[in-house]
Amino acid sequence: MKQTTLIYKLVMATTGLFLCFFLIIHLLGNLQLLSPPELAREQFNWYSHLLSGNILIKIISYVLYLSLIAHAVYALIITRVNIKAQGSKYVYDKRSKVSSWNSRNMGILGTIILIFLIIHFKDYWYVYKFGNLPLDAKGNKDLYTIVITSFQQGWYVILYELSFIALGFHLLHGFFSASRTLGLYHRKYAVAIRVVGWIYSLAITLGFMLIPIYIYFNLNS
Ligand code: HEM
Repeated sequence: MKQTTLIYKLVMATTGLFLCFFLIIHLLGNLQLLSPPELAREQFNWYSHLLSGNILIKIISYVLYLSLIAHAVYALIITRVNIKAQGSKYVYDKRSKVSSWNSRNMGILGTIILIFLIIHFKDYWYVYKFGNLPLDAKGNKDLYTIVITSFQQGWYVILYELSFIALGFHLLHGFFSASRTLGLYHRKYAVAIRVVGWIYSLAITLGFMLIPIYIYFNLNS
């Protein structure tokens, strides 16, 4: 592997692991949406307000945006380098004799996630930061109502569920790929890494999948 490609892969692996960590925190925050509505509204809006006001969290957010951009840009660069070098769309790890479906389709899965993120940022992030949201009883922006209203539409729930399935496959392969790139993958720990990768990917995917389904079936007026 050329040195530059190795550097690109290192950037992908470190930003990818940081994004994996963000997903745990984001899921834990979003699980508040499953509390009884009277409690969830104030809790969720207060939590969103807390995140947007804290300087340390603001810095972490900028690192997050940079990581997202770097992860996507370097994925594109690596894919182009590989196409040029081998005429193949994505070079997968040759140490495993049979590559899995998701390892060959990281580009497609990543593109689905990118489209999801554009919609996600437009509907929640942009509306929260720049929209004119009504306030709740405690004077915080009522993001809770925006999220609940969006998941009362069947098509929106399906869009999210399909994106989460793509995210799950992407995480599963990304986890192993990152552990190899960072030199954490050792024969002795192969099974342990596999188990941790599966548990992480399943927990994140099912956790996110639960939220829109729960809201659609329980909070639909
Ligand atoms: C049911 C699932 C989800 C819900 C209800 C949800 C909800 C939200 C909301 C309400 C915001 C705006 C909060 C704010 O800006 O303060 C947000 C921001 C964000 N979401 Fe999600 N999200 C979900 C899944 C995901 C997934 C799967 C990803 C990544 C693949 C993701 C990535 C992000 C990012 C990167 C931000 C911007 C965070 C920041 O500004 O610091 N979200 N999400």
